[in-house]
Amino acid sequence: PKAIHNICFVGAGYVGGPTAALMALNNPQIKVTVVDKDDRRIRRWNSRHLPIYEPGLAEITRIARDGLEGAKDGNAAPRKPNLFFSTDVSRCIGEADIVVIAVNTPTKMRGAGKGSATDMTSFEAVAGEVVRHARDGTIIVEKSTVPCRTAEMIEQMIKLQRPGVHFEILSNPEFLAAGTAVQDLLSPDRVIIGSSPSVQGRIAAETLASAYTAWVDRSRIITVNVWSSELAKLVANSMLAQRLSSINSISAICEATGAEINEVSAAIGADVRLGNKFLRAGIGFGGSCFKKDVLSLVYLAESLGLAEVSDYWRSVVEMNEYQRNRFSTRVIRRLNSTLVTKKLTILGYAFKKNTSDTRETPALEIIKTLLDENPREIAIYDPCVNRSVIESEIREMQSYGPLLKEDGGCISVYSDPYEATSGTNAILIITDFDEFKTKPVAPPSPSAAGPAAGVTDALRKRFVAEPDCAADCPDCHTGTGYIDPSAEYKPKQQLDWKRIASHIKSPGWVFDGRCILDVQEMKKLGIRVESIGSAGGL
Ligand code: UDX
Repeated sequence: PKAIHNICFVGAGYVGGPTAALMALNNPQIKVTVVDKDDRRIRRWNSRHLPIYEPGLAEITRIARDGLEGAKDGNAAPRKPNLFFSTDVSRCIGEADIVVIAVNTPTKMRGAGKGSATDMTSFEAVAGEVVRHARDGTIIVEKSTVPCRTAEMIEQMIKLQRPGVHFEILSNPEFLAAGTAVQDLLSPDRVIIGSSPSVQGRIAAETLASAYTAWVDRSRIITVNVWSSELAKLVANSMLAQRLSSINSISAICEATGAEINEVSAAIGADVRLGNKFLRAGIGFGGSCFKKDVLSLVYLAESLGLAEVSDYWRSVVEMNEYQRNRFSTRVIRRLNSTLVTKKLTILGYAFKKNTSDTRETPALEIIKTLLDENPREIAIYDPCVNRSVIESEIREMQSYGPLLKEDGGCISVYSDPYEATSGTNAILIITDFDEFKTKPVAPPSPSAAGPAAGVTDALRKRFVAEPDCAADCPDCHTGTGYIDPSAEYKPKQQLDWKRIASHIKSPGWVFDGRCILDVQEMKKLGIRVESIGSAGGL
């Protein structure tokens, strides 16, 4: 492999930022720069309040970016900063040995393939910039999730724009999940590197691998051809989504038969061939990746003329929507099909626990269905997502007219769960936050959470704690008086269900969209729970 001195990540988002931070932390000799044309985003990456929240990320970023090796007894040992954030895109690309493209590749919303094909606008623009500004011999890495054979598109650009110049193109998809990004990056199940089969391609793959072997065992780094690597990312997410749709389809059978979905999941998950992960039934998957990647696979199959294959994968998304609608319909039916005089409380707005990420959250779709019934009030509480973020997302649903109470609508967002549930006719559990569970949940021990958690804890201990900044901190202001919405999530207190039971309207409905409540315990408090995948509580 060739020596690496400088890596440039293009795209300071959920993937580029954390991946670059880990790369820099583990390779102090490499200068890692994250570039983005969005000046506001870069300012926040350079501030004490990062634009995204991931447990452990602030500590790692501070160490690599500010040169704080952490502290013993408050004394920081200096380390040379090697993580930088910049808007000077072309200059940083021109200085790099490796350029990693980590920009958004959402679903195309108009034109050919709309609703399923991948929108390559940002990716193509960045690839163009890389091809224009990179030095001869630079390795270009696709980190964004892209359609199979995207590397070919970059090759064509190179041929047209820089004939005679040689760039190797690698595919190195990212498998991190929101809320566990640092852990996933610290101890990945595998790192996939796709390259051309040529000698130069293999050298490029080994060069990139050497940046990972600083902390990942070589046996976990899988080198394959570039098309397999591009496709593997789509397939991994699609198979996970398919598993959820499969278990969710079975939950409908459970509700109609008296079988319990949690018991079925435990029973089948004990088979090592199936494994026990990703078997929790619920209101369906959300998040930025699953739907988008399944649809991208659907589009790929369609464009290859494989109608049966594309129909098969499309049904995974259809089942997800069916599951979510089934839940909303059940809530409305239980409330005698009329919500006009009723208050409903949404517990959890993020698409899953321990994240402030709201992309493709099922909460929004469920709220839309409830709105059609003209309820008296919809109250929303989330322990992690900032109120102003939820409010602005609700305001964006303009076709529904004014929705927030202060604008004359029926939706209020609360920062106190007891105000949100006071006098409510029904509580809907939308996100699986531990705070919502019937009984306190012990934090996972470092050993149970794997070695990564231990590393993160150790880092945290070494990290120099600084006092929180004042509300008028210049770091967090973006010039509009807007304060950082991703303020660190610290698990709030466990919900006091006894207190909630005392102030909700009879007959005390709670609809558990995540199967996290203990139905019997709740019954003792006078709360009637209806859970996904269970006929109990009826
Ligand atoms: C996913 C993949 O896990 C990750 O590898 C990829 O890089 C990005 O997409 P993410 O979307 O962040 O990550 O979250 P994940 O934890 O996979 O959950 C996705 C959705 O499935 C969430 O809405 C979650 O609540 C739901 N889910 C997950 C279930 O309903 N049941 C489960 O058992 C697991």
